[in-house]
Amino acid sequence: MNTKKRAAFAVRSLFAGLLVVVAFAGVSAIAQQQPQFVPQAEDPDNFPAGPGRDDAFYACAGCHAFRLVANQGLTRERWNETINYMTERHGMPKLEGKDRELILNYLAKTYPPKQEQNRQFQNPFLKQ
Ligand code: HEC
Repeated sequence: MNTKKRAAFAVRSLFAGLLVVVAFAGVSAIAQQQPQFVPQAEDPDNFPAGPGRDDAFYACAGCHAFRLVANQGLTRERWNETINYMTERHGMPKLEGKDRELILNYLAKTYPPKQEQNRQFQNPFLKQ
């Protein structure tokens, strides 16, 4: 190789190397842009422990997220009606006897009506 050819070769290698670096930077930038959120399957352990929790979870989570249930706050009577409604309206297998009692107890105890907070005017300038 003469000097000219060697110089040309050096320049080309330099460009090739640069290209690899740029490509790598691009790929890792894309990789870093992947959303961090990874949806996870629900598990009974995601919800407050208590007798009947797993039974309630598996009775209700077949059709919709148990979160939908956990987001409610109902009296025992309304939970009872909800169970009937799921059976009558959506064809949930009938819940009866001990199973029903267990699940109803869990729902009523764990998800009671939510406290109504801040209904009264509160002066934000008055520290309590
Ligand atoms: C066979 C399917 C099925 C099963 C099992 C089931 N559901 Fe549902 N549920 C539905 C469907 C469909 C909806 C959405 C339509 C609706 O709100 O009527 C729903 C909606 C709900 C809602 C929301 C209602 C609202 O006002 O937004 C609650 C609360 C609920 N279900 C509770 C339960 C509970 C508690 C259980 C277990 C004891 C249960 N579901 C099991 C089908 C089911």
